[in-house]
Amino acid sequence: MGASEAALQIFSGAFAPQFHTNLRSKFSSVCCVKSSKDRHYGCMQQNGVRILKSYIRRQRIRLESLRCKCSQAENIRGASGRLVNGLANDSKFQLGQHLKYEKGNILSDDGLTAATSNVFGANSIEDEAWSLLRASMVYYCGNPVGTIAANDPSDSNTLNYDQVFIRDFIPSGIAFLLKGDYEIVRNFILHTLQLQSWEKTMDCHSPGQGLMPASFKVRTVPLDGDEDATEEVLDPDFGEAAIGRVAPVDSGLWWIILLRAYGKCSGDTSVQERIDVQTGIKMILKLCLADGFDMFPTLLVTDGSCMIDRRMGIHGHPLEIQALFYSALLCAREMLAPEEASADLIRALNNRLVAMSFHIREYYWIDMKKLNEIYRYKTEEYSFDAVNKFNIYPDQIPPWLVEWMPNRGGYLIGNLQPAHMDFRFFSLGNLWAIISSLATTDQSHAILDFIEAKWSDLVAGMPLKICYPALEGEEWRIITGSDPKNTPWSYHNGGSWPTLLWQLTVASIKTKRPDIAENAIKVAERRIATDKWPEYYDTKGARFVGKQARLFQTWSIAGYLVAKLLIANPNAANILVNVEDAELVNAFSFALTANPRRKRLRKGPKQTFII
Ligand code: GLC
Repeated sequence: MGASEAALQIFSGAFAPQFHTNLRSKFSSVCCVKSSKDRHYGCMQQNGVRILKSYIRRQRIRLESLRCKCSQAENIRGASGRLVNGLANDSKFQLGQHLKYEKGNILSDDGLTAATSNVFGANSIEDEAWSLLRASMVYYCGNPVGTIAANDPSDSNTLNYDQVFIRDFIPSGIAFLLKGDYEIVRNFILHTLQLQSWEKTMDCHSPGQGLMPASFKVRTVPLDGDEDATEEVLDPDFGEAAIGRVAPVDSGLWWIILLRAYGKCSGDTSVQERIDVQTGIKMILKLCLADGFDMFPTLLVTDGSCMIDRRMGIHGHPLEIQALFYSALLCAREMLAPEEASADLIRALNNRLVAMSFHIREYYWIDMKKLNEIYRYKTEEYSFDAVNKFNIYPDQIPPWLVEWMPNRGGYLIGNLQPAHMDFRFFSLGNLWAIISSLATTDQSHAILDFIEAKWSDLVAGMPLKICYPALEGEEWRIITGSDPKNTPWSYHNGGSWPTLLWQLTVASIKTKRPDIAENAIKVAERRIATDKWPEYYDTKGARFVGKQARLFQTWSIAGYLVAKLLIANPNAANILVNVEDAELVNAFSFALTANPRRKRLRKGPKQTFII
């Protein structure tokens, strides 16, 4: 279908709402058409500024107004020399913009922190964070749709940090929700839904249907057929332009988690009930639940498919993806409309939940006791009731772990593959396992005990270390491919990421141990604002601002704000938490009794868990 045809059908209402195509939803204030020149979404005012060329000609005056708005956005870019997207219609944002351009504040290269606090009349770190968060807002056709990854005026090489990353927007979205600012989150959810599995290709290969992009950018492009006019388009990146061409498996999972949080916080369930949104949820689920060659219930992914989006040896079944997957399944189950057509999907989802929780709780868990068991494992067990099911050679237990494991506490390991346990501690996976109830209550407490016991390693000078320990020497060379950004104790390789503060806060509130988060927040407050909100810190003790870290990194700012807002109102953490339900617990105990470690039933009917 040509772009014009599509546009005509939208205008005549010819698209049935359930018609799941790239043109999926109609917005109240904007509508989107496929540009014939490229495959981006274009946006126009609903009064029909640009649909057909002949129509455009008849609508010269309206077109002028769009052009005017778009060039206004261009001027903003020009004035700052940096990208600040959008057509501001938010009064606070406009105030910020005004101050920025008129008085050289906020994004000016000099004295940003001091200037901001003075201008807004408050010296508090929180006020500064709010100003910065608002200044990072991205607008599409006048509506806020996200926040850019970093707003660092000292950096001339933005790479893709001027884009809206799905995962980076989550703490921004939660901060806005907790402030009662729902519009940006609603717009983000609906606009990213439109981008889902857009026909992007890399070397003639397209990503799977249902994939959400890693990021998107609002671009102003010349209007087809009229060199004087411009329009804004949303340009998604599914990894086909990203460094390393990594597919963002976590994007769709985060999208589902945010959708549920939006409904719970705003009380507006109409978004999740929309047919296009329901279809979007199902597409993500189908992609994740599709059968493959895998023997494990955990999701098999490539390296770099989540927050750690470069080669760090996490391919396979990394904990972070499993915890987000588990959480997204539970959130989706809550939101899916009960209908005959979804019965199979819900059944598959329930079976997966049970199998995953069993698998992770049993096989990923490590503490002193379990470590000692592994130390004494027999290997090469060919049998159905093997204890060492994955044939782990005890020599794999790394020397650092023998010393590092405290007597009290434990954690979920980073990855499990045949004959391979990745014993590294990954913060996000462990925290989200607590939040989603993938970890048992006892395990959740033990993880927090562990973080407390290892405070000087994991929190150190800035919460929170992304993983521990760093890969060094030959291991670093082989596993990262000699990545100069991922040198030991930097970036993904043992760097410290302030954004993880919000996940630590949710996990500690869920386990009724908010003091842990409060202490971590105090550590962050000592320097995060004076250091200009870096993306990450380097060194074992997080003493230096990261070698290549962006400053004014939005999710560092938003993560801090979410942590503060939740400590002030712990009940609000419920919008993110998944409470373990009794049916799952029952099914889990059934799975335990059928645990092949005890006895494997070879005969008899195949068990399925129908909840
Ligand atoms: C880095 C991080 C990634 C983040 C992106 C934008 O690539 O590894 O998790 O989404 O920056 O901030």
